[in-house]
Amino acid sequence: MIHDFVYDIPVRVYFGKDQLHNLGPELRRFGTKVLMTYGGGSIKKIGLYDKVVSEIRKAGLELYELSGIEPNPKVSSVREGAKICKEKGIDVLLAVGGGSTIDATKWIAASACVDHDAWDFFDPAIMAPVEKALPILDILTLSATGSEMDTAGVISNPDTKDKYGRLDPHILPKVSFLDPTNTFTVSPYQTACGSADILSHIIEVYFNMDSDMYMLDCFMEGLMKTVIKYTPIAIKEPDNYEARANLMWTSSWAINGFINAGKALPWSCHPMEHELSAIYDITHGLGLAILTPRWLKYCLDEKNVGRYVQFGVNVFGLSAEGSPMEIASKAIECLSSVLFDTFGLKRTLPEVGIGEENFPVMARKAVGGDVLRGFKHLRQEDVENIFRMCME
Ligand code: NZQ
Ligand code: ZN
Repeated sequence: MIHDFVYDIPVRVYFGKDQLHNLGPELRRFGTKVLMTYGGGSIKKIGLYDKVVSEIRKAGLELYELSGIEPNPKVSSVREGAKICKEKGIDVLLAVGGGSTIDATKWIAASACVDHDAWDFFDPAIMAPVEKALPILDILTLSATGSEMDTAGVISNPDTKDKYGRLDPHILPKVSFLDPTNTFTVSPYQTACGSADILSHIIEVYFNMDSDMYMLDCFMEGLMKTVIKYTPIAIKEPDNYEARANLMWTSSWAINGFINAGKALPWSCHPMEHELSAIYDITHGLGLAILTPRWLKYCLDEKNVGRYVQFGVNVFGLSAEGSPMEIASKAIECLSSVLFDTFGLKRTLPEVGIGEENFPVMARKAVGGDVLRGFKHLRQEDVENIFRMCME
């Protein structure tokens, strides 16, 4: 069955090494006062900061800055950015960094247009509507979240220990600069986490069989094979352009909506992972790597085994001969081996300092007090069981 769908991804992408001269003219389309946002300083170390400032000055634009946006970006950064926007009359935002910087910038853009507190966009009891947002441009420095080409932004609140993602078309970037050379300095660990995140974005959709199109299955299998092929190369040779370019473009296409095409079921692993990083502030991709093989194992049954077989045969080259359940188990083993042996990520929650103490509360929050309605419905006790499987 194939549901109806709308395809609409209006992001202009400048891809490649020699595109930054387009930045000034692109910013100018939206105004003259620019707020540039960035993280803890990696953009200065890699020399990108100076290049960006020079382009902004060349275009005669007025530059303001917000730095220090942390991984798992906090609502305090959003509040700070919105305050600057209001005080200085900012016209356009420029996020330079990874998903955290871009996500925070998206919600700064929305918060700058309202009088209420930024967290009101996320507080489940309020869920303030998003009616407009300032225009956002970005320069991506880490291939992972796909925030450069999607309508989502994920924000954490350390006071309430909540981490929520919210989607809204108003916060979709207008223009994204994707220069793979800007990712040459990403550490092996962040490269691995980024790739685990990309894989998870695809797997969440691939295993959702609510609407199913052969063309998109092949596309997703191609994206997954690309991540599996190029991540170890990028880890070993950080300045391998071909590897970084493939990972960068895959990160965008894994989550920009193209592969969704009418699949209505919500994701499962992401809500579970957001509970881990909300409480323990671990890297998002690492949490996903630990959860994904266990979640797949937990959800496997006679009804859905065919999809696991397809995954094993088309992505990992397993033989289609033999018992479907055995092939499915092998497919999960192949995925584990990629994440833990090839990418070198930690395998269990205790290895990343997480114990069982918060499982009930995390599981309750992950299911939103209800049920996670993915390809296999998960209740609070199911999520707790999956967390427990990650202990060893
Ligand atoms: O802060 P700086 O100094 O920039 O350092 C960052 C940070 O420490 C560093 N880094 C980034 N680019 C670099 C670099 N270091 C060296 N060279 C470079 N070129 O990497 C560290 C991690 O950066 P971060 O932006 O946190 O990583 P990522 O892109 O993985 O973003 C993770 C956040 O995005 C959310 C996650 O939950 C998490 O909060 N997600 C956003 C999504 C979306 N918008 O659609 C979907 C995802 O599923 C995800 O939930
Ligand atoms: Zn993700």
